Amino acid sequence: MIIFFVDQNLKKLPLSEILDIKKLDNVNKHIEEANGLPNECYVNNDYLAHEKEKIFFNKWTVIGVASSTPNPGDTRPHNLLGVPLIVLRDKDKKIRVFHNVCSHRGFKLLDKSCTLKNVIRCPYHSWSYDFNGKLVATPHIGGLNNHQSEKFDKIKSSLKEVKTKVWMDIIFVNINSNEIEFDEYIKPLKNRWSKFINLKDQKSLVHSKDYGYFNLEVNCNWKFAIENYCESYHLPTIHPELNKVSNIDDHYHIQGLPNRFAGQGSKKYEQPVKGNKKFHTFSNWDKNMLKNSEYIALFPNVMIGLHIDHFYVFWLEPLTINKTKEHMQMYYVGNESANGEELKELRKENSRFWKDVMLEDINAIEGMQEGRNSPVYNGGNFSPIMDQPTHQFHKWVANNLI
Ligand code: FES
Ligand SMILES: [Fe+2]
Repeated sequence: MIIFFVDQNLKKLPLSEILDIKKLDNVNKHIEEANGLPNECYVNNDYLAHEKEKIFFNKWTVIGVASSTPNPGDTRPHNLLGVPLIVLRDKDKKIRVFHNVCSHRGFKLLDKSCTLKNVIRCPYHSWSYDFNGKLVATPHIGGLNNHQSEKFDKIKSSLKEVKTKVWMDIIFVNINSNEIEFDEYIKPLKNRWSKFINLKDQKSLVHSKDYGYFNLEVNCNWKFAIENYCESYHLPTIHPELNKVSNIDDHYHIQGLPNRFAGQGSKKYEQPVKGNKKFHTFSNWDKNMLKNSEYIALFPNVMIGLHIDHFYVFWLEPLTINKTKEHMQMYYVGNESANGEELKELRKENSRFWKDVMLEDINAIEGMQEGRNSPVYNGGNFSPIMDQPTHQFHKWVANNLI
């Protein structure tokens, strides 16, 4: 029997050998002249190595939500394009992210979610780290029953911590520690949404425990989910039911500047209702914008939906160049709406509603993936009116690659 080993990371080809750099310049042209990102950005494994570094490690990337590890000691592993990470809630309830690798001989420390008491213990030779990542135990390091060694300085072997920030329950990491500070990064979006919700009062956003999560695996590159989310152009064809309530004409574009986010808003949001029951609403929502809802993709990999009575975080886990896991996390205003028995049915319906919308989108995004195998496609053209936010995302990717 012959076994073939394939290692995508064996050799990183220069970007110019993978695609024609001029095609990336084309993306940057005015929308009327621009083409979209070239096919390689969706189908080529060598390209993914560049994207991993320049998009996912250099930027503030989302790896989940804090509610998934609610109590001190709760921990879960996460794999970011092959890089193993640990998400941990420490004793002060702070979310911390470490590289999931033992400092001794490189064993992957954590394999599945669990609640730890005091330490992260390596299954191989039992070296243990406290919740600050500090190496605290090295059994038999100096020979049998000798747990210290003069020749070994524990201080130098702490776990490597990743720059992390939690905002609206979303966990952002900057693997290469080279992006601007998160507070500055998020400022434009935070300012925009200050007319809707008080972001200091994050306690009002409560994750729902019963109908607060679902995921979908899609056969396409992660970028298709973002570019599709940014535009309302596809409403009549892909979401005919949704289009009856909130028509393509009731939408407006959102272009975040500096270029970090884009999306769309609706002026016709109707709160879901069952009998006479509705979800609680945000108390400081702008009274002139009661029917507004906004759908923003914060680059690279999170899509946020903000409504007067609920909020969702739809984040993407890229698995391979053409496979993505979509995670949907849902929040309500206060515990009664998020977890109370009275509104359970309404939560179930709301979750079902969004799942149906996301399922409808799968046809669109997987169809684009198939199309990207065509040698005659040149990245395509944008509608100068309808595709502005999508073009903005393409430009963001292209500029970060070059
Ligand atoms: S590799 Fe972790 S203790 Fe040896
Ligand atoms: Fe859609």
